[in-house]
Amino acid sequence: MEPAALVQGASRGIGLALVQELLAAGAHARIFATCRNPEKAEQLRALADAHPRLALVRLDVTREEEIAEAARIVRDEAGRLDLLINAAGLLHDAAGVGPEKRLEAISGEILQRVFEVNAFGPLLVTKHFYPLLKHEGRAVLANISARVGSIGDNRLGGWYGYRGAKAAQNMFTRTAAIELARRAPNAVVVAIHPGTVDTDLSKPFQRSVRPEKLFDPRLAARQILSVLDGLTPQASGSFYAWDGSSIPW
Ligand SMILES: NC(=O)c1ccc[n+]([C@@H]2O[C@H](COP(=O)([O-])OP(=O)(O)OC[C@H]3O[C@@H](n4cnc5c(N)ncnc54)[C@H](OP(=O)(O)O)[C@@H]3O)[C@@H](O)[C@H]2O)c1
Repeated sequence: MEPAALVQGASRGIGLALVQELLAAGAHARIFATCRNPEKAEQLRALADAHPRLALVRLDVTREEEIAEAARIVRDEAGRLDLLINAAGLLHDAAGVGPEKRLEAISGEILQRVFEVNAFGPLLVTKHFYPLLKHEGRAVLANISARVGSIGDNRLGGWYGYRGAKAAQNMFTRTAAIELARRAPNAVVVAIHPGTVDTDLSKPFQRSVRPEKLFDPRLAARQILSVLDGLTPQASGSFYAWDGSSIPW
């Protein structure tokens, strides 16, 4: 079986850039890019037309049956994964999700949606895809997290839903790393913070960011892949930043 990679949440932003960088790098014979709406993911479709080794798969992380079906498709087509990156995330959207500055802004319904995408999604993907990471080679499962999900590093407050969901995602990452150390010993399971990246997600919050600290998505993708490339199974259960430094939980 040939090396295969999958990027979950690849329609735009960092996920799309990761697919572009994986295609450019050439280390994987098969690359799967998942998104919730392949018909509308024009950039991904254009990439798939130009690169026969790229396959698009439907996967909305809030629908477990779609995650299970996507795992079946990848198992049948590739039989294994050497790299799985959970990139999908939600900080704000047109339907009212947005970072809360004070307690009065909190809504149970919005917390539910933010947790579903950022925290439950990557865990359900882990549940359905981990058998594909169990093979004789090294396999990396990376969940794109955020520094604001660090409890130890939280000095500013605010952003209750997103911070809480990324902290929960981090706990799920660490817990899965412990279980998979027994059940898939060649798997490296980590959380990684991409830095501040110039995507739709960060657009409303870029004013205070110094230009050299606002990464182009392709640069962010290369930095993430470079950190992941160097990891051994001993690194499993860690939380890294884009430059390979450790972030406190
Ligand atoms: N940008 C930053 O500065 C920054 C900083 C720290 C951490 N992060 C993290 O990095 C990751 C990528 O963020 P980004 O900046 O690339 O964000 P983005 O440009 O807003 O892209 C978000 C991606 O998540 C997908 N998504 C949202 N809900 C989904 C669902 N229910 N099922 C499947 N996919 C879904 C979107 O798909 P649609 O096109 O279908 O909406 C889109 O592809 C996120 O986990 C984010 O929290 C980003």
